[in-house]
Amino acid sequence: MIDLHCHILPGIDDGPKTLGQSLAMARHALSNGIRLSVATPHIHLGCYDNNFDSIRDAQQKFQQALAEEGIALQLGMAAEVRVDAHLPGLVEAGKLPFLGNWEGYLALLIEFPDNHLPAGSEALVLWLIDRGILPVIAHPERNRAFVSHPNKLIPFVELGCLMQITAASLTGLFGTDVRQYAVSLVRQGLVTFMASDAHNLEKRSPNMLPALDRLHALIGREKADDLVNGNPQKLLGQIQHSQHQRVT
Ligand SMILES: [Fe+2]
Repeated sequence: MIDLHCHILPGIDDGPKTLGQSLAMARHALSNGIRLSVATPHIHLGCYDNNFDSIRDAQQKFQQALAEEGIALQLGMAAEVRVDAHLPGLVEAGKLPFLGNWEGYLALLIEFPDNHLPAGSEALVLWLIDRGILPVIAHPERNRAFVSHPNKLIPFVELGCLMQITAASLTGLFGTDVRQYAVSLVRQGLVTFMASDAHNLEKRSPNMLPALDRLHALIGREKADDLVNGNPQKLLGQIQHSQHQRVT
């Protein structure tokens, strides 16, 4: 499997605090069937002031540590970018790392606040798409606005946004309503990717196998595989190109 969304770099956000914790997460990912993890630290100015350069530096150091420890996990890099008033400026400054390419667009992992949908979110998505940037919406099933009012997700689907659900949502970590909404999104064929969104080895670990079993039961093995292998591979196919193509 390819894990497109995880917080595995040490000391850069609310993920692992130490290199040892990061290495333990990497071993855990590998032993649970993940061959490639894309490190996606938060970019949330005022909380986690990361940018392309800080994430790249942390990723290169961790890559080196993985090699020294003989851990065969492949490591990519991107970011989970908060939807707020800073986002357009970050795009214009070319300071955001992209997940990859999708049908001619640069794919950007974006995160709405957990408890609401900011005013102007649709306009912001349109603004991004006009600039060749296609949002991948991180865990829509965990946003209270979408859970309570699923129709609010429809405009983003119609605009072409890709959807990433979190594996543990399917197994109930975030509650019954989140699990049921995640199941509903999967059944409707609205989910493009499933990722771990791992932060640690305790509650939010990089183990997607229990959720993969749920996917198998919901949509069959072939479609389940698309969410953790086929679609991520398609997205990452030109990752090097996208990492070097800054938006100006
Ligand atoms: Fe995340």
